[in-house]
This record gives sequence, C-alpha cells and structure tokens, in this order.
Amino acid sequence: MSEDKIIDGKAFAAGLRERIGRETARLKAEHDLVPGLAVVLVGENPASQVYVRNKARQTAEAGMRSFEHKLPPETGQDELLALIDKLNNDPKVNGILVQLPLPDQISEQAVIDAIDPDKDVDGFHILNVGRLSTGATGASAPLIPCTPLGCIMLLKDRLGSLSGLNAVVIGRSNIVGKPMAQLLIRESCTVTVAHSRTRDLPAVARGADILVAAVGRPAMIKADWIKPGATVIDVGINRVPVEGEDGKTRIVGDVDTQAALEVAGAITPVPGGVGPMTIAVLLANTLTAACRQKGIEPPEL
Ligand code: GUN
Repeated sequence: MSEDKIIDGKAFAAGLRERIGRETARLKAEHDLVPGLAVVLVGENPASQVYVRNKARQTAEAGMRSFEHKLPPETGQDELLALIDKLNNDPKVNGILVQLPLPDQISEQAVIDAIDPDKDVDGFHILNVGRLSTGATGASAPLIPCTPLGCIMLLKDRLGSLSGLNAVVIGRSNIVGKPMAQLLIRESCTVTVAHSRTRDLPAVARGADILVAAVGRPAMIKADWIKPGATVIDVGINRVPVEGEDGKTRIVGDVDTQAALEVAGAITPVPGGVGPMTIAVLLANTLTAACRQKGIEPPEL
C-alpha cells in the first residue's frame, strides 16, 4: 500500500544526473565546453564537509570540472571576497558555491552580493531572487535555488500540473521557504507561507493539497496535520539520537513519516527524498550557467 506513496528522490536524482552527464558530454563534443563548478568551504563544520565532498565527487562523475577551495576557520572576510573576485574572473569557473553557514566574522550577505549573478548556482544573489519573483524569462531567466527547484521537479513528476492546488510552505528561509513559495506561485498554486508564529498551524497545514515542511524540527508535522490524499514534501534533515543506543544518531525529517503515510497521498522519505535532489540540481544549474555564459541554449533536463 505505502510503497507507491513514497516519492523516490534518490532514483529521480540519479536519472537527472545521468541526463546531465549526457548533456555535458555533448557540450564537450559540440562546443568544446566543460562546465566548471567552484565550491568554497570556510572552516570545519562536519555536515558542511560531507556536503562539499559529495558535491565535488558528483561534479566530477558528471564529467564537469570541480574546483575545491578549503579555507581555515579564521579566514577573514576580505580574504574570502578576494577569492570570489578571482573565481568571478576565471573563465574555467562557470558556477560558484560558498557553503553556508559561514563563521561569525564573515557577513553572508557581503559574500552573496560579491558573487557574479551569472555564476550564482545557489540562486541566492538578489538579482536572481528578483528575477525569480518577477517571473523573468529568456536571457533574464534566474538561476533558482537548488533545494526548492528539486522539490518542484518531484512534485511535477508525481502530480503533473500543479495549477490551482493549495500549497502550504512551513518555513520562511531565504534558502528554501521563500523561493519555494515563488516557484509554487509560478506553477499557479494558491500559496500560504506559514512559520513559527503562525496561529493554529495544524489547521493551516490541513488546508494543503501540497504541504512543504522546511522547519528543521524532527517529526514536528503529525498525521492529523495532513489533508487526506495530500502530497507531502519533507525538506528536513535532522540528526537525532537513536533510543537505547548510546552515542548513535540517525537522520529524520520534519514530518512523522510513518504516521503521515496513513493519510498522505504521497510523501518524500528522509533520507532518500529531497536530499539527493539538491546536488543533482546544483549540477543542472552549473550546466545551465555554463551554456548561458557561452551564448548556448541550455538543454531541457
Ligand atoms: N547550506 C545548506 N544548504 C545550502 C545550500 O543550498 N547552498 C549553500 N551554499 N550552502 C548551504
């Protein structure tokens, strides 16, 4: 029963990476273009180290160039901005990602502002944020944040058209909640953005045909928050202790998945749902950015 309710993001991401690999090979053959992605890590945050390692590996596996820059935790803002300037001006680098969070002495805003918007594969630069919210297309089309774009791909793969559906996004971060809301508006959903101050959050959530949870609280969303048949996208990645096993941890989402499966029409598991999509979309954004920089029409992925 529940098997077909599971949205297999891991499999979808693998398929996407395969298409990206084929298109990368074609770009090399037809245009002598090898897209390059620079990833910058400041400090030693263990979760960030894992992400950055996975990004580098998957970039190389797709046939792209990967440039890794690991800087010590005490790196100053000026030093990081100087590196970004170098990457902005390096023609081999088509995409730049500075892993967040950054140490306290560095302003995230200053760093995001410094990245060339055409190389901003995170879609965090204010120009890309503005282009997404105004619905800019063609030569002015935005680069779109990876995690929400991955969520939209999974939703459209499962539901087809999203037009007219009620979508509730729980969470209002710049990385997920806000761009997710913009993308759902673009798909003609009726969108509510809820957050920690929302009154009667369970009742708001129960109005959703599409429920996106991006709050960072383990298993906060319960089965009775979910409208029967709704599609649930769980963006949460929370590390929690395993009961009775000293020191052991596991990863859970923002949704109580087992209970939600009884009510929802479909749900992304954690792990294996949204998580694997993020890096796959990062590679897609790098391919798109490289094509645009060379005046080549980006492929449909
Ligand atoms: N840290 C957590 N998620 C992200 C992301 O999507 N991009 C960057 N740059 N840092 C992150």
